[in-house]
Amino acid sequence: MSAKLRAQGAKVLSAVLDEGRSLSEALPQAQQALSNPKDKALLQALCFGALRQYRLLDAALKLLMQKPLKGKTRVLQHLLALGLYQLYFSRIPAHAAVGETVAAAPLLGQAKLKGLVNGVLRNAERQGTELLDKACKNQAVATLHPDWLIERLKKAYPQQWRAVLEANNQQAPLWLRNNSRQQSRPDYLAKLSNSAIEAVSEDSLTNGFYLAEAQDVTALPGFADGSVSVQDGAAQFAAELLAPQDGERILDACAAPGGKTAHILELADAEVLALDVSESRLQRVTENLSRLKLQADVVAGDAASRDWWDGKAFDRILLDAPCSATGVIRRHPDIRWLRRDQDINELSKLQARILDNCWAMLKPGGTLLYATCSVLPQENKEQISAFLARTKDAELRPIVAGESEQQPGWQLLPGDNKMDGFFYARVLKKP
Ligand SMILES: C[S@@+](CC[C@H](N)C(=O)[O-])C[C@H]1O[C@@H](n2cnc3c(N)ncnc32)[C@H](O)[C@@H]1O
Repeated sequence: MSAKLRAQGAKVLSAVLDEGRSLSEALPQAQQALSNPKDKALLQALCFGALRQYRLLDAALKLLMQKPLKGKTRVLQHLLALGLYQLYFSRIPAHAAVGETVAAAPLLGQAKLKGLVNGVLRNAERQGTELLDKACKNQAVATLHPDWLIERLKKAYPQQWRAVLEANNQQAPLWLRNNSRQQSRPDYLAKLSNSAIEAVSEDSLTNGFYLAEAQDVTALPGFADGSVSVQDGAAQFAAELLAPQDGERILDACAAPGGKTAHILELADAEVLALDVSESRLQRVTENLSRLKLQADVVAGDAASRDWWDGKAFDRILLDAPCSATGVIRRHPDIRWLRRDQDINELSKLQARILDNCWAMLKPGGTLLYATCSVLPQENKEQISAFLARTKDAELRPIVAGESEQQPGWQLLPGDNKMDGFFYARVLKKP
């Protein structure tokens, strides 16, 4: 318990909500300022929780304050949200939640406003859950999602949109992928059982399973030697549907951090080119492959251009396209605040350019698997439908029953089988 931890938390919320930085980038930096591992874990829990509940916390603050803090004092608005989160959603005793949060104000250069922070939090404490009930009168607030996303989901899923919003507000289980090059899934599950770790295997996947309780993955049997990798169940369908074969030349067009590249290589002795536009993220591909003792040609380049290509066509292409990530909100609560409605048009244009460019590098008779971790039709079935309409030598290879050129692909929704939201469409290049 410390004031420093609360100050770091307010800085993380500022980084995400005001500067548009991702939580996965801002949080580790803030954790570096704390030496105690328990404090680091608490900071993570508070930041994840506060971002998940932010719409409600923000609405509650509007009821408590005449106007939001702006300019140099803006960071205190986030400190207050963090304070409310502790009061309403954590087991931290109220006196500690208020005391440590008030004490964080001077650490953020706002000593003069300690009284304001104290007053707002004490007022919330007095009002108790009535305050949240008042804030939740607006039903959109209660869903904890931004209006634009609620509208898009309503339109896309008239029956299921509420379930999607609800699933996004849950914590995701820890999914793992057995490395079939090292052992079978039953053998690895037996090892876990010997270590008193309870795991549940998923029949629709060859190597996927999840843990009954999340834990430090580096402490799992054989983790350092590559026995197992962290990967959501929905993401594990990518390599399975791509069905790589020994000796094939395969492009993983948007590869970083390399989860799917590694899975492809676990399934076949293929020649894989792992491409990504981000050099820094490619470093993670190299690290992941080295832990798993696998090899790929790791290349920095733009999948919408061919200046990095040697001209030799690929047998298969996995296009795990940059997308809104609206299928993985339960794992990344910052996405609902980082993404804007207008981003979706831009993303879908980029996806179309990458699709067309990758198509030109695919052998006749080859297969392209298009994937996103999005639940928005514009990036998924509408994207592929338009691609099929403009590409004469493209033929849809259905994955599930009911697919057609107008309604192509397989849409998984978050929470289905405890998995993330994902989309897959498989297309053959006519020989
Ligand atoms: C969904 S992530 C890929 C996840 C990865 N396939 C995995 O399983 O670990 C999308 C990736 O696309 C990359 N990206 C974005 N625009 C790109 C482009 N024009 N060319 C290549 N990669 C791009 C991003 O850097 C990001 O790493």
